[in-house]
Order: sequence, then C-alpha cells, then structure tokens
Amino acid sequence: MAFKRNIVITGGAGFIGSHVVRLFVNKYPDYNIINLDKLTYAGNLANLKDIEDRPNYKFVRMDICNFDAFYKLMQDEKIDGIIHLAAESHVDRSIKDPFTFAITNVMGTLSLLQAAKLYWESLPEKYEGKRFYHISTDEVYGALSMTHPEGIEPPFSTTASSSEHHLAYGEDFFYETTKYNPHSPYSASKAGSDHFVRAFHDTYGMPTIVTNCSNNYGPYQFPEKLIPLFINNIRHRKPLPVYGKGENVRDWLFVEDHARAIDVIFHNGKVAETYNIGGFNEWKNIDIIKVVIKTVDRLLGRKEGEDMDLITYVTDRLGHDARYAIDSTKLQRELGWEPSLQFEEGIEKTVKWYLDNQEWMDNITSGEYEKYYEDMYKGK
Ligand code: NAD
Ligand code: TYD
Repeated sequence: MAFKRNIVITGGAGFIGSHVVRLFVNKYPDYNIINLDKLTYAGNLANLKDIEDRPNYKFVRMDICNFDAFYKLMQDEKIDGIIHLAAESHVDRSIKDPFTFAITNVMGTLSLLQAAKLYWESLPEKYEGKRFYHISTDEVYGALSMTHPEGIEPPFSTTASSSEHHLAYGEDFFYETTKYNPHSPYSASKAGSDHFVRAFHDTYGMPTIVTNCSNNYGPYQFPEKLIPLFINNIRHRKPLPVYGKGENVRDWLFVEDHARAIDVIFHNGKVAETYNIGGFNEWKNIDIIKVVIKTVDRLLGRKEGEDMDLITYVTDRLGHDARYAIDSTKLQRELGWEPSLQFEEGIEKTVKWYLDNQEWMDNITSGEYEKYYEDMYKGK
C-alpha cells in the first residue's frame, strides 16, 4: 500500500505483538507504527531491540483500559488503524485470577473500541479508510473431541494444500461458523471481547475484523507457556510438568506465519469478516514434548533423548480442553495465505533461538524480572 498510515499495535511488547511490530516496521517504512503496551509481566521491550531506533517506530506505555489517554493518542497521532493484541493470555493464570482477564480483555477492548468510535466519528470522512482489527484465539470455540486417538491421515479439507498437513485426531474442526463455547476464564474473556468488536460493527458500522488463531510457537514467547518453559527446563535439567496424561491436542503455528497472516488480513481482509488462522498441525502434548526434548538434547550436544526422564506427569489443569484444531481454508482460499514452515523446521528454529538467546531467557527467569514487575504493581 503506497499511502501513509498511522497504526497502533497494542500488546506489541508481548510474544506475537513483537513479531507483528517488527514485520510492519521493516516492511512499511512509510507507516507510523506505534507500539502501545502496559508492560505487564508478559511485556518485554528487549523483544524489539533490533527495531527500537527506527524512525517509523514509537513505543507508548499505556494501559488499554485508560480511555482518556487512548482517545488523546488517537487524536494526536491521527490513528487510522488499530491492530489489537494486548491481553492477558495465559490459561493457568486465568484460573487463579479471572478478574484481571475480564478487566483487560473485555473492558480494555471495549475502551479501545469506544475511543476509536468517538474519534473516527468526529472526522469528516468518518470510518472511511479506518480499520479495527482484533486478534483472538481458537479457544473461544471450546474443545473438540478426540474421535481418532491415533490420528487420521490428510487431506482434511478439500481446498487446503495437503502437503502441509499433519495427522488430525478427529474429523471435526473449528470453522468461522462454529458456535462459541469457551471453557476457561481466559477463553471466556476473549469471547466477550470478540462479541464487543462485532457489536461495534453491527451497531455503529465500525470497520472491524476478527481473527481466531491456533497455538503459536517461536522466539520471544514468555516461558510460562509449554514450549519455551520446557526448553528452559530441559536446558537446566529441571522436571517437565505434563498436565494429566499429556494426551491433549493443540494445533501449532509458527509465530512469524501468524504475523504474516495479520499483515495480509489487515490490508486485504473484508470488513466484518472472521478468519481462522492455523496450519493443520495437530500434536498431542506428549508427542511435541518428546520432539522438543530430542531437539534440545541434540543441539546441546547431549545424547538425543537422554532427558526423557525429566517428563513428570502432574495433576491436570482444571477444565483442560481436549483438542483444538483450526480449519483455515477460508483464509487460504480468499487471501492466499499459507503457513511457510513445516513443524519440524519451525521447532528446530525455535529451540535454536532459545539456546542462542539464553541471556533473554535468563533475564526473565532470574527473579529480578518478576521482582521488578511485582514492585511496579505495588507502586514502588
Ligand atoms: P503475551 O502475553 O505474550 O503478550 C501480551 C502483551 O499485552 C504484553 O506485552 C502485555 O504487556 C500487554 N498487555 C497486557 N495487558 C495490557 C493492558 N491492560 N494494556 C496494555 N497492554 C497490555 O500474549 P501473546 O501470546 O503475544 O498473545 C497476543 C494476542 O494474541 C492475545 O490477544 C492472545 O489472546 C492472542 N492469541 C495468542 C495465541 C498464542 O498462542 N499465544 C494464539 C491465538 C491468539
Ligand atoms: P499453553 O502453552 O499454556 O497454551 P494453551 O493452554 O493456550 O493451549 O499449554 C499448551 C498445552 O500444554 C496445554 O494443553 C496445557 C499443556 N501444558 C502442560 O502440560 N504443562 C505445562 O507446564 C504447561 C504450561 C502447559
């Protein structure tokens, strides 16, 4: 796109947000990219060191719940696009503290919507050329059943390219038309935010888009999530806590492929549409854990598989969803997006990144980082 845009990316200091910010800053030198982030425990400006001095990039520390500050930012920066990723994102934390999830994910999203509405409606051209793009998760659809515990062979869909497919553990998938049925406080709060975004289109005509993506993996993911947590534990030979029997299935997508999808959809997606994003890449947790162990061992020069005995089965997560599986055929068919990496390649790249960037990991896990954020919350 040739013309200049002023875009706010919320949650840009987090895992996926930092990849989106990096992609947009590098690819669109004419755009004004503003990374808006509160820097909770999950936000880390070290994720963006390589682009922080670019002339088309600016960081603003702000809580998405701060309506007045965001409204002023919209006016000052003449914002015409919002890509909204800021959220509380970890299911286990939502089980312990659901309120924070409702406040940030539901009220924060509503606050952004209302500020954008007031600002855009005050302009002569109103909503023309504007976009509010909300990033959501496949977890809002609930859980699919495991009708084929040993997996079934592709192709699973008539239009997606079958070469990219892994096994599937049931015939059913999440489609854009699948009824919402969230189970965890996290997914319930994301569902609430999705409903508000669509309501702002249906009620006020705001040009909104919602996408629902499967589990992401890759560099810069906070080490409370399965893959980076386990890579770090294997490195330090600490136990790997596998919830339940490790049989739950997740559908994994390399984070840079998600960021590319967000770029394509932000520019070419149809207003008021929903797009599912995923790579037809289902894995049982225990199988992915074994791949990660072997990869870490090999890259550290250990005997491949020697750390298998770190696997420790622990009490299951409350309400643990059995299976997620996304059908992203619509996105592939309508906008030509496809995942670029096979899973084996993506995992190799990911493990190598964490091992090559031990300082990044050590800074987060040293205790200093947590202390800094605890102090911040206590207002010290
Ligand atoms: P993350 O936890 O790594 O990052 C979230 C970011 O939001 C952090 O930088 C944090 O500081 C910021 N933030 C939190 N509360 C805020 C507030 N009140 N105001 C401003 N900033 C705030 O999350 P992620 O994994 O990068 O996920 C990003 C988005 O993508 C979320 O909306 C999530 O629901 C969605 N999503 C994630 C996945 C996944 O696998 N990680 C999959 C599908 C969708
Ligand atoms: P997670 O990375 O938390 O993502 P999500 O809950 O959003 O899918 O967890 C991925 C899967 O791994 C999920 O089924 C829970 C499981 N899990 C473990 O078995 N042990 C762990 O320590 C963690 C963090 C997750």
